[in-house]
Amino acid sequence: MQREIELFVTPGYANFIFGSSISGHRTNLFAMRRAIYPGSFDPITNGHLDIIERGCKLFDEIIIAILINPDKKPFFTIEERREMLTEVIKEIEHHSCRLIVEDFRGLLVDYAVEREADVIVRGIRAISDYEYELQMALMNRRLEPRIETVFMMPAEAYSYVSSRLVKEVFLLGGKIEGLVPASIEALMRKKPTGS
Ligand code: PNS
Repeated sequence: MQREIELFVTPGYANFIFGSSISGHRTNLFAMRRAIYPGSFDPITNGHLDIIERGCKLFDEIIIAILINPDKKPFFTIEERREMLTEVIKEIEHHSCRLIVEDFRGLLVDYAVEREADVIVRGIRAISDYEYELQMALMNRRLEPRIETVFMMPAEAYSYVSSRLVKEVFLLGGKIEGLVPASIEALMRKKPTGS
């Protein structure tokens, strides 16, 4: 049986333990850390998988949350993306971290609160990502101060890889090998829009 120890931590010590600003809160050393990794994942790239793998070193549970965006015409449907994600995450090193695939609509912070998540994970590839990500993180913090955004950097090899570029290169007949899992590339080729 797991014994739970409650501590009252000072702001600095809380940061040391959890790397987040839960300053002055009564906290629990064995509390489960649940993160949400949101995105369009249209399609999931090796860069996304790299972030998930890294996130597994920090969190006990990661919910990979696909945004349902009725304003966009996606390459893959939500159902297809959910299935694809569920399959490809089986291939990554996730230690004892539980990985869950879901979809959501509306405000991300509302969904995060509903799912009782502590953290939103976002990948930052280059400085160009930072400005938009900072705006989102600060807006999300304003809307829901209890939820922290954690930025993670993928391996350098994926620093230029995005779903948008992968689709563009693919649709123009370029090679996308190594940018997405082989199973995803195969599914892209089966699409009527694919080659
Ligand atoms: O894969 P993407 O397109 O970079 O993901 C963007 C995403 C899904 C994280 C962002 O668009 C989002 O959170 N949308 C949900 C709506 C919302 O909460 N908007 C306010 C953001 S501050």
